[in-house]
Amino acid sequence: MDARASFDLLLPFLALLARGVGAATLSFANKCPYTVWPRTLTSGRNGELSSTGFELVTGVSFSINDVPETWSGLVWGRTGCTIDASGKFVCATADCASGEVSCNGAGPIPPNTLVEFNLAAAGSGQDFYDINLGYGFNLPLSITPQGSGSGCNTTSCAGNVNSVCPSELAVKGSNGSVVACKSVCLALNQPQYCCTGAYGTVETCPPTNYSKIFKDQCPQVYSYAYDDKSSTFICAGGASFLITFCPLLDIICDPILLGYSFK
Ligand SMILES: *[C@@H]1O[C@H](CO)[C@@H](O)[C@H](O)[C@H]1NC(C)=O
Ligand SMILES: *[C@@H]1O[C@H](CO)[C@@H](O)[C@H](O)[C@H]1NC(C)=O
Ligand SMILES: *[C@@H]1O[C@H](CO)[C@@H](O)[C@H](O)[C@H]1NC(C)=O
Repeated sequence: MDARASFDLLLPFLALLARGVGAATLSFANKCPYTVWPRTLTSGRNGELSSTGFELVTGVSFSINDVPETWSGLVWGRTGCTIDASGKFVCATADCASGEVSCNGAGPIPPNTLVEFNLAAAGSGQDFYDINLGYGFNLPLSITPQGSGSGCNTTSCAGNVNSVCPSELAVKGSNGSVVACKSVCLALNQPQYCCTGAYGTVETCPPTNYSKIFKDQCPQVYSYAYDDKSSTFICAGGASFLITFCPLLDIICDPILLGYSFK
């Protein structure tokens, strides 16, 4: 092996060292007063993560430690899940209709609060992440990069859109309470709301009275197709992220999150 070849081999190795380890971590914490069933779905470059669907009861955290450092994919949380009379796992919101806690490659049935990741895109070392309410909302959440690199800011949809959801967008649970809120495009499927046809450009598709309801509750998110580009966050060398469901609530009893003290 000549010197040039060994140098070429060394470079990717050094890049891995610069990011700490060869894999990223996705951590999840549930501060909601109800159980959440998170789901990860890989898009594009990589295979599915080691955990694609799991239960997260109130006050508990969980980490997936083997996320490829160039992973791109989606994360969401299902709520109101139960085993139905035929033995199938079904959820009141963001169900993936697999009949199991694992989704077997299926996406969510909207509306759902959607987390989007594109880690180290094209070898850039930059992690892109955002919260997208383009199909609607089901629960509040935040994304917090665990690194200290530049731009590694938390983005959050902390408000509860369900509590202000207009009836024409509302999805109700079995007891009549609003469990999710459709985007106006999903609910009414009209060009001026979906930014299609004559409304298919950023100039012709401004925010609407409906998309503003979502943006008012969650100013940092994508509330419709041509929302402000500042809703995408870019973190240099963040590598690992914490997703917190119901970030504003203070229900914490996980000993790991708390450092073994209780409040
Ligand atoms: C990140 O937060 C800092 C400090 O609050 C702010 O100055 C900066 O503009 C933020 N960057 C992004 C991309 O939001
Ligand atoms: C309705 O059910 C939801 C869970 O699906 C629960 O959070 C809520 O408290 C219930 N509301 C009433 C009025 O019972
Ligand atoms: C939004 O505007 C449309 C058109 O003016 C109107 O029909 C609708 O009732 C409004 N909805 C809300 C929630 O303000």
